[in-house]
Amino acid sequence: MEIIPKIIVAIDGYSSCGKSTMAKALAKTIGYLYIDSGAMYRAVGLFCMNQGLVIENQIDLVRLKKILPTLRIEFNPNGNGELDTYLNGANIEKSIRTLEVAHVASQISTIPFVRETMVKLQQQLGILKGVVMDGRDIGTDVFPHAELKIFVTASPEIRAERRFQEMKTSGDTITYEEVLANVKERDERDTSRAASPLRKAKDALILDNSHLSIEEQLTWLLNAYQDTIKKSQLTYQGTPKDNCH
Ligand code: DC
Repeated sequence: MEIIPKIIVAIDGYSSCGKSTMAKALAKTIGYLYIDSGAMYRAVGLFCMNQGLVIENQIDLVRLKKILPTLRIEFNPNGNGELDTYLNGANIEKSIRTLEVAHVASQISTIPFVRETMVKLQQQLGILKGVVMDGRDIGTDVFPHAELKIFVTASPEIRAERRFQEMKTSGDTITYEEVLANVKERDERDTSRAASPLRKAKDALILDNSHLSIEEQLTWLLNAYQDTIKKSQLTYQGTPKDNCH
């Protein structure tokens, strides 16, 4: 039986830069679990929308704080080798992918007590390693000791174009300008919020995928993964005495 070496792969970066596509592909290839941390903020966002906790574009923090510990956010296999997001037992994978939810999730993600709860949950999900997790603060706050950290970038225009094409294909009538405005607004929020703003971890590798195909990105990621595994084994082989007492 082949033994799969288990590390944590932390992938951070701007919204709509294709992080989840590449993270999913990497996880599938190396036999790891893929966890979409953004889905957790979206789940809280959807909950707030459905429960009337968003009033005139403001979140009712008092009620949210009371109710947050009772929310059950889980990931369950969907039969296609991937995980769907569940909230209090209901599959919400589809309903959290709208622009409205993205907008509320972005607001939600600036609330420190929500971040604290989400980070704890994410740390629990990675406790056994063998996980690829993507988000904004995975390499900096959730798993600062992750063996492999990647920071993904691409220009806002390229990201908006990709997202626009995706949404058009799924029948959305949104314009490119609206998508671009949303991408820029989320960048601004992600990088300027006081609680865990999006930033590159010191030891993260940068992947600018503006002009890379999905296959090229996967090849790049696989190389980075294999290098990391090799290095960790070399370190182990190079210091055998460390393991003798
Ligand atoms: O990656 P996404 O667009 O699904 O994320 C939804 C929102 O949650 C987005 O505004 C960024 C935020 N987020 C975050 O602050 N930290 C994470 N680890 C993941 C997402």
